[in-house]
Amino acid sequence: FERRKDVHLDTLPAADLGLTKRPRRNRRAEWSRRLVREVELTTNDLIWPVFLMEGNQDIDVSAMPGVSRMCIETAVREAERAAALDIPAIALFPYTDPVLRDEAGTEAFNSRNLVCRATRAIKAAVPEIGIVTDVALDPYTSHGHDGVLRDGVVVNDESVAALVEQAIVQAAAGADVIAPSDMMDGRVAAIREALDREGFRDVQIMAYAAKYASAFYGPFRDAVGSSAALNTSPALTGDKRTYQMDPANGDEALREVALDLEEGADMVMVKPGMPYLDVLYRVKEAFRVPTFAYQVSGEYAMIEGAARQGWIDGDRAMMESLIAFKRAGADGVLTYFAPRVAQLLREQRG
Ligand code: PBG
Repeated sequence: FERRKDVHLDTLPAADLGLTKRPRRNRRAEWSRRLVREVELTTNDLIWPVFLMEGNQDIDVSAMPGVSRMCIETAVREAERAAALDIPAIALFPYTDPVLRDEAGTEAFNSRNLVCRATRAIKAAVPEIGIVTDVALDPYTSHGHDGVLRDGVVVNDESVAALVEQAIVQAAAGADVIAPSDMMDGRVAAIREALDREGFRDVQIMAYAAKYASAFYGPFRDAVGSSAALNTSPALTGDKRTYQMDPANGDEALREVALDLEEGADMVMVKPGMPYLDVLYRVKEAFRVPTFAYQVSGEYAMIEGAARQGWIDGDRAMMESLIAFKRAGADGVLTYFAPRVAQLLREQRG
């Protein structure tokens, strides 16, 4: 086979395939692309997860360039900025001082813990922004697990009892949305019942309904210090596979979501995000309820890390990843990019 050296762009003959269907027509100009666009990303879709720490300075999260653990004062300022950017809600995650971590995660039930104090401070300064608090014991336990450990096993029902206490102190501090991320069975019903009993009937529950045992949480565990905690406990591997889902399973996600909705979840979440768009799509199709995706720390690290190396266009990759969530059916996305996205959307609007 000889290469056809005589074929050049300027010698190609005029051609006409006689097509009646030409999908490119709708793409030929920006006005037309805008007109036929199916989904849109707006600031209304954003929840911004932020990391908290004690003290009066912020510390960078090494595996998440551009993200830091904020002291309460900074968190209040950033919540003000988020509200000014029209971001509807922020989600709080604490880095707990290692001396406050113990086997049972008791600091989680302290109504003056970091998350509770930050919630009160942000509510007082920025009442219009929604505050989502995470229910799980991992930032508070010496072993880094989300629940109570007995003889090396994360025990379900005792864990639920503990998580209920954690949810109550968060609601009392002013959290608007309680978000159990622990994946214990029956925790949504137990938390709903306790919230109602304690007079928090209007506090919403966003269930981490389909949460997978994922390698993409690595940078988060660094940020909240739970992987370090895991490593100091030789009895443990840090493996959460007895409660978080197997990445191989899709049908099971639908069963998990069905249970959380029966138990009283107001909103459900799929987590991680991009590797699980099929799960997100199926959940939205099956239930048609408010459905969220969590673009987790490892997803952020991949995009931001590659962008900082100059390997991809960071802003474009960020926006593309988020529109993909919308296309798959998400009503909103938890993303560490939230303020940057909101800023960019504002600039695009002019
Ligand atoms: C804690 C929790 C985790 C994340 C949110 N809540 C980590 C885990 O389950 O180990 C991960 C978020 C992220 O990676 O951005 N239960």
